[in-house]
Amino acid sequence: MPHTVIESTPMRAQAAFDVAKLRKDFPILSREVHGKSLIYLDNAATSQTPQQVIDVFSEYYSRYNANIHRGLHTLADEATAAFEGTRHKVRAFLNAEDARQVIFTRGTTEAINLVAQSWGRKNLAPGDEVLISMLEHHSNIVPWQLLAAEIGFTIKVIPVEESGALDMAAYSTLLSERTKLVAVNHVSNAFGTINPVQEMAALAHQHGALILVDGAQAAPHQVIDVQAIDADFYAFSGHKVYGPTGVGVLYGKQALLEAMPPWQGGGEMIKTVSFDVGTSFAAIPHKFEAGTPAIAEVIALGRALEWVESVGINAIGAWEGQLLDHATQAVGRIDGLRILGTAPQKAGVLSFVVEGAHSQDIGLLIDQLGVAIRTGHHCAQPLLAHFGVDATCRASFAAYNTLEEVDRFIEALQRVIGMVR
Ligand code: ALA
Repeated sequence: MPHTVIESTPMRAQAAFDVAKLRKDFPILSREVHGKSLIYLDNAATSQTPQQVIDVFSEYYSRYNANIHRGLHTLADEATAAFEGTRHKVRAFLNAEDARQVIFTRGTTEAINLVAQSWGRKNLAPGDEVLISMLEHHSNIVPWQLLAAEIGFTIKVIPVEESGALDMAAYSTLLSERTKLVAVNHVSNAFGTINPVQEMAALAHQHGALILVDGAQAAPHQVIDVQAIDADFYAFSGHKVYGPTGVGVLYGKQALLEAMPPWQGGGEMIKTVSFDVGTSFAAIPHKFEAGTPAIAEVIALGRALEWVESVGINAIGAWEGQLLDHATQAVGRIDGLRILGTAPQKAGVLSFVVEGAHSQDIGLLIDQLGVAIRTGHHCAQPLLAHFGVDATCRASFAAYNTLEEVDRFIEALQRVIGMVR
């Protein structure tokens, strides 16, 4: 099935990309911080929200606030239609085969926990192996550690090269008939490395293993095609793709989802409930959506994906590539600054440490100049430990950032480094 997100070639995308125009959609970008115009470069933590998405909340709560799938009244119908409308938009966004393969969660973290608790609990046994990578966010490490402690399977870690690219030779060697699941991120939140998940999926499948892809940092920057990747599971979060917090998505192959047991019980995930004969469960996706979901947030996610589609995901990725190149060249000229993450394939994430200056100090001082970056371990402590640091500074880019903002960030960084050294 063809992908329905508007696509354009990178060259055409750059020519057409009107950053000044799309910035007008983001009211927060005109605020000041400490008396300076905000420069928001913490997009890998959360992206800002266009007015079109913010509007969903006042429209929903002032016009059609109702619980979904339950009522027969007009408001319930309208809310249900808008909520289910997002499921279809997500299907198109991911190029999933069927909207029933789209499960709403609270975010990527919950999506991964769902797979661990439902698929993992049923299918993993002592002696089995789950491969994760050195690049993982804690959300794709800890759920497996928690389950491994109970069940007794083994977690193996795919190493990284000096550049922060995955060591694919080591990956091939680690795969065996004991491997039941490969769980990797598509893009590293800490370094920006883009992992070759399509190739990794093919290799995993050759060994009879499944692959779960954490797409939290990929969905905002590039076309996601779960069928082309041949992903068994794919997860992403709304709030990193111009949507709200509190909503994310788990995609799964239909046969897998159908065979998986529910992981949370409650209303809406059942077919029948009886004290005498027990409970039977609803079909997917509802089997995995117990209780009242984040209705407004899901509807707002749909609006966010429309916003992304209106700009063009390829155009966004190409623009962020320019911002990254510009920033990488400029920071490369700063004495004593070391970039972590220099893989050939990178999304718009620039992580670095500065000799003689603690990252936390840089983060606090640069905030005084109006620049928001993230400092710390980025929920990737094993990766940072491997590279011999406990924190980095991280600037991460989104569609609305400009080359002038990158220049101001570099200027501010140089000032701050001068202050702390
Ligand atoms: N995972 C988010 C980040 O990288 C929170 O900042």
